[in-house]
Amino acid sequence: MLRKKDLLGLKDLTKEEIEDIIIRAESMKEAFVGGEMLNSLKGKCVATLFYENSTRTKNSFETAARFLGARTMSIAASNSSIQKGESLVDTGRTLDALMTDIIVIRHSMAGAPALLAQKVKASIINGGDGMNEHPTQSLLDLLTMKEKFGAIKGLKVVMVGDIKHSRVARSNLWALGKLGAETTVVAPQTLLPSNVEELGCEVSYDLEEAVVGANVVMGLRIQLERQKVGLFPTISEYGKEFAITEEKLAACPDALIMHPGPVNRGVEITSEIRDGENSVINEQVTNGVAVRMAVMDMLING
Ligand code: CP
Repeated sequence: MLRKKDLLGLKDLTKEEIEDIIIRAESMKEAFVGGEMLNSLKGKCVATLFYENSTRTKNSFETAARFLGARTMSIAASNSSIQKGESLVDTGRTLDALMTDIIVIRHSMAGAPALLAQKVKASIINGGDGMNEHPTQSLLDLLTMKEKFGAIKGLKVVMVGDIKHSRVARSNLWALGKLGAETTVVAPQTLLPSNVEELGCEVSYDLEEAVVGANVVMGLRIQLERQKVGLFPTISEYGKEFAITEEKLAACPDALIMHPGPVNRGVEITSEIRDGENSVINEQVTNGVAVRMAVMDMLING
């Protein structure tokens, strides 16, 4: 059961709520990969309202909604009345008037989904807000880890990359901590948040050293669009120190390789590792549909 009408982040969910979503997602995945259309959202409407670009999140929410029997609407800031000056709240109220039950929002401002949740009747799902949270990405990461290891508790998860700007890292750090995993973040000092110690993780500046004993190594995208100033000398120098390569994984050759995407090959991770046998990056995308089916079903049907 979820206690609230909205899913805004994993910081505010209990361990039990997170576990319930993963369990529901496991059965949703069976239906999705088996091509079984469900009708638990029959007669409902799901709108995606995206102020930032997306391939995976937007399309997997829309696929998930259709698999549950809902009708869908897609609003992109670039080709809607947002371009004529319509505010976020007025856009949300317009969707309410169109009898929308769930609005999935992605916005560059942290807190935009929380604001919308206060102002509209529809359930709000955060599809990524600025540098704050991306809860369904973390949930699909958790489902992927659980499928491979059977449990999250006791796993050692190393995240490497642009931690400072990463909403995926924040959601994962909140959730993995609640579920009993051990987490380490690896980045240059300039790509770490100033409050990193409050996130409950170890910090390392050396990827080769950090991955000793790791079960999961997760690459994170370099978010040049959120950097106001250059935070490392050059892309190639960044890659030399922090790209996931076979050499740097020498101490954990069997670790699961994850990345939320989109991947910058050769910058965050080599193509050999991205496409290698330990990579579950494509499975993460499939699991995204299952998790989003579970979240929407639980918000509407309990
Ligand atoms: N992982 C993720 O959020 O990807 P998109 O930006 O393609 O949605």
